[in-house]
Amino acid sequence: MTLQTDDLLTVQDVNVGFGEFVALDGAHLRIARGGITGIVGPNGAGKSTLFNVLGGQQAHQGGRVIFDGRDITRLSVHRRAQAGLTRTFQISRELGALTVLENLLLAAADQPGEKLWHALLNSSASRRCEEQAMVHAQSLLERVGLWRLAHDRADSLSGGQKKLLELCRALMLKPRLVLLDEPAAGVNPVLVGEIAQFIRSLQADGMSFAIVEHNMDMIAALCDPVYVLAQGSVLTHGSFAEVAANAQVVEAYLGGVQ
Ligand SMILES: Nc1ncnc2c1ncn2[C@@H]1O[C@H](COP(=O)(O)OP(=O)(O)OP(=O)(O)O)[C@@H](O)[C@H]1O
Ligand SMILES: [Mg+2]
Repeated sequence: MTLQTDDLLTVQDVNVGFGEFVALDGAHLRIARGGITGIVGPNGAGKSTLFNVLGGQQAHQGGRVIFDGRDITRLSVHRRAQAGLTRTFQISRELGALTVLENLLLAAADQPGEKLWHALLNSSASRRCEEQAMVHAQSLLERVGLWRLAHDRADSLSGGQKKLLELCRALMLKPRLVLLDEPAAGVNPVLVGEIAQFIRSLQADGMSFAIVEHNMDMIAALCDPVYVLAQGSVLTHGSFAEVAANAQVVEAYLGGVQ
């Protein structure tokens, strides 16, 4: 696979095995700068495993991950986040006993380098960082309509609101690329529309996305290109209309229905 200058991230020939089971088998992917790339495929196809590889949560055998021209294959989760690559999880990871606002502030402070700087900086500079995080958190919560719930416990939110919180937590790190693992799962259709609109507005701000999703309305509305993963490999990619019309894709989905 050749590198193109408008690629923000490329994955080349990545393999992941769990014992004998092959979860990713020579997976490859290209995420365009400024774009929203979709990743679909039947349950168990390896989509979340692929995001785990990109986010640095999952070791892999062979292959490379290039982010903005830099080989990040061996970088830790934190170093990837510092480089501008963050993600959300299929199961939201909010801290339920903390407030919505505290969840965001913690996401900003939860970087190892951050703590060291705070220890080294004088208290007024440290306070300034906290104030900036507070301003950022408030503006994000206002944008997604959660500011009025800022002081509520995170576990009191609905499923859809938790998805928005999860996205805002990732945004606290001011990423350039955000990987969203099923942002619409379990979310009511009105809120799905709001999440989609928020992603579009972030794209207009210059952010890039990759979205794993079973909600084909969301994929069709937001994503181009769309990659189809089946049994750990990329089956095909193209516009939503192209992949939806592909007989192999239909077969892969039907094969997943036992
Ligand atoms: N830590 C693990 N240990 C063993 N097997 C695993 C592990 N993680 C994932 N798998 C297996 O790898 C395969 C791919 O899992 P993955 O979660 O990536 O699928 P997915 O495409 O995200 O599916 P879904 O659409 O259901 O979320 C599945 O068969 C899963 O059971
Ligand atoms: Mg998954």
